[in-house]
Amino acid sequence: MPEPPVSSPPLSAFARVVEPFRVMDILARAQAAERAGRDIIHLEVGEPDFRTPPAIVDAGRRALERGATRYTAAHGTRELREALARDYRSRHAADIDPERIVITNGASAAILLALAAGVDPGDEILLPDPGYACNRQFVAARGARPTNLPVAAEDAFQPTARAVAEAWGEQTRALLLASPANPTGTRLERARLAEIAEVVRARNGLLIVDEIYGQLTFGAPERSAAALHPEVVVINSFSKYFAMTGWRLGWMVVPEAWIESVRRLAQNLFVAPSTLAQSAALAAFEPETEALLQARVSELERRRDVLLEGLPALGLEVQARPDGAFYIYADCRAHGGDSEALCADILDRVGVALTPGTDFSPAHGRDYLRIAYTQPEPRLREALERLHGVLGRG
Ligand SMILES: Cc1ncc(COP(=O)(O)O)c(C=O)c1O
Repeated sequence: MPEPPVSSPPLSAFARVVEPFRVMDILARAQAAERAGRDIIHLEVGEPDFRTPPAIVDAGRRALERGATRYTAAHGTRELREALARDYRSRHAADIDPERIVITNGASAAILLALAAGVDPGDEILLPDPGYACNRQFVAARGARPTNLPVAAEDAFQPTARAVAEAWGEQTRALLLASPANPTGTRLERARLAEIAEVVRARNGLLIVDEIYGQLTFGAPERSAAALHPEVVVINSFSKYFAMTGWRLGWMVVPEAWIESVRRLAQNLFVAPSTLAQSAALAAFEPETEALLQARVSELERRRDVLLEGLPALGLEVQARPDGAFYIYADCRAHGGDSEALCADILDRVGVALTPGTDFSPAHGRDYLRIAYTQPEPRLREALERLHGVLGRG
């Protein structure tokens, strides 16, 4: 009998072209350097350095002890959906029927579900450039076409209604944006968001607003786009504000007409979100947890200020002041036109891990880098000092 060919089954066209999430490559290199005994300051990964609040951890422990380990409904427990609806009412003055809330495995699963529900293969989806790297891959995984929507520093790196109207073509089906945004940490003013929502609605399009950093804002609190009108799909997560990245829990608010279909999609694609995480998250809305989380937001604001003060002397220009999340997007053109090479050089020479803009911007990523201020203030000051050794002038 002839020997069967020794080769792997061919990869899909999508798997062959999917881009790496470069920040994970940087993290791997930084960790390898750490294993070799170097002290690395991690400012690359978009993950808070804070631990999950104790009340949430305790609630999770109690849930495990009482055996809360079986599947829940695909769209999540009624208790958690009601807790979120109460939070929308008190925090955003938005009256959201808990039936419109779908609990998911993080914002990632929520974005996938939103695209599965509202987008067909071949559709064009507008994505602000710069924007969250994985969105392009989510769209491509759906067989749809990610289409860059350029945004300008003078517009806080957020879209304008005019730009959306101009970019909207025959094949365009949706716009997916985030406020505050990753990698820029900038917010979209509510009035501008309302104008954009009108542009999208007039074209019978889908507006998806990712509010994963919605509670990590400095200054006036961010009001949810869910309060704007009931056709906007809102994405959110327990990952960032609640410091629960590893628990994998998020949610979305969907239009009423979508409820049944989204539940069916969730049943088939994910069966259910984590039961343990859902039980634990019920403690997220207790006053003591809220007080702790608000103190952390103030701490993040102080960290931002430390960096904003130190970066200009390093030739890293911040063109739009970040007012949320925990990111600074800095123009690094003064140090050559290749942010990937610059980040690699900085990591090798002084052990500070940063993310090249190429993760976030197909058009201008080589000119920018992202700094995640997910380290305590003294470490940030040390990072500035180390960077001075490589980038400092005079
Ligand atoms: C804008 C944005 N959306 C979604 C996600 C995914 O978050 P999750 O951990 O909830 O899946 C991230 C993670 O960094 C993000 O920055």
